[in-house]
Amino acid sequence: MAFVIKENVRLHSSVCRLAIEAPDIARKAQPGQFVMVRSDEQAERIPLTVFRANPHAGTIELVVQEAGESTRRICAMPAGAEILDVLGPLGEATEIKQYGTVVCVGGGVGIAEIYPVAAALRQAGNRVISIIGARSLPLLILEAEMRQASDELLIATDDGSAGRKGFVTDILGELIGWQPPDIVFAVGPLPMMARVAEATRPAGIKTIVSLNAIMVDGTGMCGSCRVSVGGKVKFVCVDGPDFDAHQVDFKELSQRQKRFDLPCKLYCRHH
Ligand SMILES: Cc1cc2nc3c(=O)[nH]c(=O)nc-3n(C[C@H](O)[C@H](O)[C@H](O)COP(=O)(O)OP(=O)(O)OC[C@H]3O[C@@H](n4cnc5c(N)ncnc54)[C@H](O)[C@@H]3O)c2cc1C
Ligand code: FES
Repeated sequence: MAFVIKENVRLHSSVCRLAIEAPDIARKAQPGQFVMVRSDEQAERIPLTVFRANPHAGTIELVVQEAGESTRRICAMPAGAEILDVLGPLGEATEIKQYGTVVCVGGGVGIAEIYPVAAALRQAGNRVISIIGARSLPLLILEAEMRQASDELLIATDDGSAGRKGFVTDILGELIGWQPPDIVFAVGPLPMMARVAEATRPAGIKTIVSLNAIMVDGTGMCGSCRVSVGGKVKFVCVDGPDFDAHQVDFKELSQRQKRFDLPCKLYCRHH
């Protein structure tokens, strides 16, 4: 199977959006699922959320933030190039049903991960209020797509260059104060998701987060993506990535993530 890149568009200096020929995955992928991508023999296999699946064109779209070697390699591939390996769709799909009023929160590249969830929830008849945020306007991605997927779109930037100055959780807190939603979905950096959980906990609002644990195989074999949820051991790649935010041990998860911040030379295959 050749995973040919049909399009590679820069969304900003360090984020690209790829359309890849992958008809089998495009037919099966559900909101919230991801693929394990290996660009070439030298690259590592990494998890990326299916941003959009287009079964008619036989393509899937991925939005990739350049974080390190593997993501940089993927974003550098031009249209026409072939990705070595795309495995999926993996993980449990997000539970899409009629909840009522839903708030979808996306931070940074997490906006690309919350988009398919917001779009599907709206299509299922929910009232979708989305809150998206970034450090500043040039880093804010997919605003038009999120506007289309939502009944209402609210924006926060750290420096106030777009929308409200502050964090997505500031807006969420105010929203809960005057119009508590029936459920909240959130994707973004771990500290953001932990803060979302704390914002909704006192009001008892069900909150689902998509955890971005570090993965190696993506199929439940290696244990790398282990997380404690409600005191039980879960694997993000097969039991998630969605979990009840009020049950997740964020402290333990962020400590586990930090083990990969040790000098790359000690761990990475590409050194
Ligand atoms: C289910 C799931 C879905 C994801 N979807 C997307 C997506 O749609 N788009 C996207 O850009 N990224 C997504 N990610 C994160 C992406 O997989 C990582 O950014 C990538 O693996 C980094 O690889 P690298 O070799 O480029 O960087 P590395 O050199 O491995 O890491 C660079 C830096 O990023 C940190 N990092 C590595 N992996 C992760 C991770 N999983 N989460 C947070 N920080 C990490 C490292 O600690 C390090 O500081 C997803 C992760 C998961 C688990
Ligand atoms: S990535 Fe290996 S068990 Fe989840």
